[in-house]
Amino acid sequence: MNLLEIKNLHAAIGDTKILHGIDLTINRGEVHAIMGPNGSGKSTLSYVLSGRDGYEVTEGEILLDGESVLEMEADERARAGMFLAFQYPVELPGVTGMSFLRAAVNARRREAGEDEVDQLEFVKLVRAAAADLGVDNEMLKRAVNVGFSGGEKKRYEILQMALLKPSLAVLDETDSGLDVDALKIVSDGVNAQRGDDCGMLVITHYQRLLSHIVPDFVHILAGGRIIKSGDKSLALEVEENGYAGLVNAA
Ligand SMILES: Nc1ncnc2c1ncn2[C@@H]1O[C@H](COP(=O)(O)OP(=O)(O)OP(=O)(O)O)[C@@H](O)[C@H]1O
Ligand SMILES: [Mg+2]
Repeated sequence: MNLLEIKNLHAAIGDTKILHGIDLTINRGEVHAIMGPNGSGKSTLSYVLSGRDGYEVTEGEILLDGESVLEMEADERARAGMFLAFQYPVELPGVTGMSFLRAAVNARRREAGEDEVDQLEFVKLVRAAAADLGVDNEMLKRAVNVGFSGGEKKRYEILQMALLKPSLAVLDETDSGLDVDALKIVSDGVNAQRGDDCGMLVITHYQRLLSHIVPDFVHILAGGRIIKSGDKSLALEVEENGYAGLVNAA
């Protein structure tokens, strides 16, 4: 069965229609990249998938493992295996990294009928995963994302992903704000999660990220529609020629 099936998806924010009929299918084991001009609806698509308040699906369907998620709240979708790494991660004043991660992981475990993770065990697990991503222990004691640098926020998003092991990971411009070394570290972290259990949707402006996280498919989103799909060579074509030619042809 397909992991994710998006069918003729139309979505609006208030009275403003942003997505105009998107079709996209992602199978387990596949990495799909989405590129597209600023304001084309990439983040909107990620928010609509994750069930964020204020984003209304006006037509079409989103199926996760064959089941519609449209009636599911954001937290239900997360427990069902969806994960969104935000383009602009939100600050959670008063919530420390460790307690936040623990609550999230336990929610996933309860959903899967597994026991909650033991506190000591969890600290070990988090420290190991954090070390792999260059997130230091001091950061885990701070309030989530409060005062984190841009790059630190992005690493922290991927740390969440590494611990939650989602079946569908949507990464919205996870490469933005990362220095060259961090880009490599974060990409390695993402690649470590690739596998037959997981599908990924990677939103980016840059071919550079896709040379680290090599996608199986690349889609160009413009004006709320996918105007072209191809393999990884499409990302190179965009880097070379920009979007104008593709948009005009569509
Ligand atoms: N709350 C809102 N009310 C009205 N329009 C909105 C709202 N939020 C987003 N939009 C509009 O929706 C369009 C798509 O925005 P979106 O953030 O999805 O673009 P994007 O493809 O992610 O762009 P970028 O590459 O700059 O991140 C933009 O024109 C934006 O101004
Ligand atoms: Mg965006």
